[in-house]
Amino acid sequence: MLDAVLHFGALYTFAHLRLADLLHAAQNRTLTAEDLAEQCDVRPDLLYRILRDLTTAHIVRADTQPGAFTLTEIGATLRSDIPDSMRPAVLTAGKPAWLNAVPRLAEIVYTGRPVLPGDEDSLYGYLANYPSEATDFEAFMAARSYPIAVDLADEEELAGVRTIVDVGGGTGTILAELLRAHPHLSGVLVDGPQTAARARDRMTQLGLNDRCTVTEGDFFTEVPTVKAPPGPAVYTLCSVLHNWGDEQALQLLAEVRAAMVATGWTTQLWCVDKLLANGHGPDAGTALDLRMMSLFPHGRERTVEEYSGLLLRAGLLPKRIKPLAGLNLVIATLA
Ligand SMILES: C[S@@+](CC[C@H](N)C(=O)[O-])C[C@H]1O[C@@H](n2cnc3c(N)ncnc32)[C@H](O)[C@@H]1O
Repeated sequence: MLDAVLHFGALYTFAHLRLADLLHAAQNRTLTAEDLAEQCDVRPDLLYRILRDLTTAHIVRADTQPGAFTLTEIGATLRSDIPDSMRPAVLTAGKPAWLNAVPRLAEIVYTGRPVLPGDEDSLYGYLANYPSEATDFEAFMAARSYPIAVDLADEEELAGVRTIVDVGGGTGTILAELLRAHPHLSGVLVDGPQTAARARDRMTQLGLNDRCTVTEGDFFTEVPTVKAPPGPAVYTLCSVLHNWGDEQALQLLAEVRAAMVATGWTTQLWCVDKLLANGHGPDAGTALDLRMMSLFPHGRERTVEEYSGLLLRAGLLPKRIKPLAGLNLVIATLA
């Protein structure tokens, strides 16, 4: 564990220099650290040592030709030309706000307050003041959410749904994929003003804005109600509830519930988050849980029991929980 941060440094360098793109572009031609260094204008001896370290995590494979490396399947996930690229995730995790927060967990455990630049009290306050960081974060979320969108689009229940209301929908990766895969669906997306503006642009680019309304607003006070076309609706909260503690999550769920009731048609709530197993043993979700602790005052992943309990307290009945793209989909109805 002690060395994990150094391996991350090598990975960050690999992503920053777009080495996956360069290795992929070479197709079957073998590239040495020297070839790559020349293209990136960095020192070949040092790049060689970075690449050698990355063989441990199977990002690249040492070739039989001395000093040469090939891209592995894992390394190829860092290509920048694929919709679910891991490159934005690596670059985001290496940004000062994210990286500096890691050793500061030792302070956060005393106060419960994240330590962010500008003394912002949560990631979203910070992003509002640093627009270029906000667009990078959105690119990261778009790539992270793409596999979620593809899996959600496969849900059979969508055949009977008319409208999707994506609450905190970011720049629209998930909603766009649902609309693209199901031409009978209409969509509404709500997010903060800057993100909503970018979601609107994206829907226009994709030719989806005749079936999609993008609303800017604060989801703690105004979750849109479906007006037209009439018919069953699904409200979605994807990777949203884990940013908030129970008090604020309940406030948000109360708004969503009120909108669901006002819709007057059969409505469901679909939540996507990483659920932890009940109990307190090892779990693949604990790192994401610490990430939430480091960036949000009360952010957290919840166990199955805690998540279900939260929905029940909000007057929503969890009906089905299933794995989805490494996370979980929780489908709830009005209780
Ligand atoms: C972790 S991102 C998830 C985005 C999207 N659902 C996805 O899965 O790709 C959470 C989203 O909540 C939005 N958000 C945070 N606070 C909000 C608020 N008070 N009102 C509306 N949106 C908000 C953020 O701007 C961000 O786009």
